[in-house]
Amino acid sequence: MVTITESAADVRAREVEQQMTDDERFSLIISIMGYIPGSAVGGRDARLPEDLPNMSAGYTPGIPRLGIPAIQSSDASMGVTNPGYRPDDPGATAFPSLIALGSSFNPQIVREGGEALAREARSRGLNVQLAGGCNLMRDPRNGRNFEYFSEDPYLTGVLAAEQVNGIQSQGVVSTLKHYTLNCNETNRHWLDAIIDPDAHRESDLLAFQIAIERSQPGSIMSGYNKINGEYAGGNHHLLNEVLKGAWGYKGWVMSDWGATPKWNYALAGLDQESGIQADVLLWGKEAFTDELRNAYANGELPSERLSDMVRRILRSLFAVGADAWEPAPPVDMARHHEIALEGARQGIVLLKNDGALPLPTDKPLKIAVIGGYAQQGIVSGTGSGAVAPVGGFASVIKIGGAGVMGKHRNLFLFPPPPLEELQAALPQAVFDFDPGYTPAEAALTAKRSDVVIAFGIRVEGEGFDSADLSLPWGQDAVIDAVASVNPNTIVVLETGNPVSMPWRDKVSAIVEAWYPGQAGARAIAEVIAGKVNPSGRLPITFPASLDQTPRPELPGLGTPWGTPVTIEYNEGAEVGYRWFAKTGAEPLYPFGHGLSYTTFSYSDFDASNGETITASVTVTNTGDRAGADVPQLYLTEAAGEQRMRLLGFERVELQPGESRRVTLTADPRLLARFDGAAGQWQIAQGTYRVGLGKDAGSLELSGEVTLEGRQFGS
Ligand code: BGC
Repeated sequence: MVTITESAADVRAREVEQQMTDDERFSLIISIMGYIPGSAVGGRDARLPEDLPNMSAGYTPGIPRLGIPAIQSSDASMGVTNPGYRPDDPGATAFPSLIALGSSFNPQIVREGGEALAREARSRGLNVQLAGGCNLMRDPRNGRNFEYFSEDPYLTGVLAAEQVNGIQSQGVVSTLKHYTLNCNETNRHWLDAIIDPDAHRESDLLAFQIAIERSQPGSIMSGYNKINGEYAGGNHHLLNEVLKGAWGYKGWVMSDWGATPKWNYALAGLDQESGIQADVLLWGKEAFTDELRNAYANGELPSERLSDMVRRILRSLFAVGADAWEPAPPVDMARHHEIALEGARQGIVLLKNDGALPLPTDKPLKIAVIGGYAQQGIVSGTGSGAVAPVGGFASVIKIGGAGVMGKHRNLFLFPPPPLEELQAALPQAVFDFDPGYTPAEAALTAKRSDVVIAFGIRVEGEGFDSADLSLPWGQDAVIDAVASVNPNTIVVLETGNPVSMPWRDKVSAIVEAWYPGQAGARAIAEVIAGKVNPSGRLPITFPASLDQTPRPELPGLGTPWGTPVTIEYNEGAEVGYRWFAKTGAEPLYPFGHGLSYTTFSYSDFDASNGETITASVTVTNTGDRAGADVPQLYLTEAAGEQRMRLLGFERVELQPGESRRVTLTADPRLLARFDGAAGQWQIAQGTYRVGLGKDAGSLELSGEVTLEGRQFGS
């Protein structure tokens, strides 16, 4: 147990809670979903006040006599969503997906996005933002990877913390979610995620631990799945022992929507049942109303525990000042669009470039734009995190599918169309558009052009894992056909995950734009026309095939909705690039990879020891354009054991010829193993080798240091 000092928010929470009646206490530990016309959870819940101005994902009545505001929560990490709660809502800024922001390797841009997102939440009276996607990308088929930052615990923890810090700086509580191992969507309500507990501490849990330490999120949302046989929301070990015990977390744990089947989750550490109608839909009953009251009445729920649940909620509201809001400051939507644009620019990853990019802006090129609804808009991820932009979507195409999320699975397109932005960025060019309807038809257009820009898109989202890494609707065949007749083909991908790219060797450039948000079309056009020098780096390894990944077959894929599934995450802490280092497999593109229109060199590498490893390197822009590099420091060997860990990174912007000295200090936990028996981190005495490079697959400089053995932390 760590020692935590009591803050003013804790003191006040205790004083206020002591004045509450039991009815008031029970009213705080549930949230009620707003009404969505046509929703599977039914009509408007009678507990929602008639005059509630803004409905939301979760509503908890306030207690005015004690200065406790109503709690109104909203999804999610990419903007303030509105799945129908607020018919008159003018629309919100659709920021880039988290996988795009993860590619920026830039905590600052993530923080600015968090601040902007929270200003928009606050202007609607929403004081809890269900942001902070913190799961690791363990599987490139996971439908929700676009809502997470990366496959690496350190990068994820650092970036998730900055989103939370940005949000909470505006007086809005943020969650981190989904605690933990909610790393696949297939039958997620019946998914048992199996992992070695120590490896869990060194991977997914470390991401949460780092993010929590750096940002003190007011709330943690537990996931839908089980971990080692116990549902996340009722997992005594993960909630009581690790989160609240070992880490001393002081905020509240809310369930995911429809993830509280039993009242006794309260004993395991769950503090609030969210979106209570969803539990009726999934499990046929509410857990934290009558059932929990009965348990309280007969002594099964101790009064101290009920008080603790309430205090945790109150202290988090007080800690960010959500109880003391002045009128919301005006929201500058133009400024927020700029932040979304900058995030999209920094998140775009140039995967391949045989010299085709950037395109010259002063030549009358004949350019064929093919497919991907590029004449309409930019693709968004789908599910609870999908944001409706100001002025509405360019188009919504219903995809559908099994389970409760099937009706929310849509191809959402944000305006403006990439085609339009490309025309503006390349004013001398003459454009032809082909929808990519058939390979043969697209090839006809490609053949008569100087350059082809082929778009490849995928609809990915909550409730669904992809069956494989191909592009849907025959797009791989279309890209292959156009590249076969015109090798000057540039592919732009709008996907939420790595894809297989069977046409990779035939095309001259590949741009991974992810789901870049409402400003994505502009950012893509700027990269293609060279106005922006790409600087994104992959936050997830692109495998050459699923056979290289820990689970070539995804357990449960294809079973009907409702089938229990067990996934054994036997790779343990060796997630993503760590797995590739362990197996020696050659990926399509390694973690950290991303090209630039300039070149960088590294010199004067130096690694020193102490309590941890600190390394310095001089980065020089050796090309003729300004650009940003992301030097990355990795552990490669620890006391005789091969072990790959990202230890540090920094995004540096450099003018041509400019040099900068970068110093990176490793979080000592990244050098350690977690010793579950001791409940501590253990650094073994010995030699530690580190390498510095542009990605996990090509370390250019190396060094070694000796570390003393020690045990520390919890
Ligand atoms: C998602 C959460 C989301 C919640 C509320 C769930 O389906 O898993 O991420 O915050 O819905 O909408």
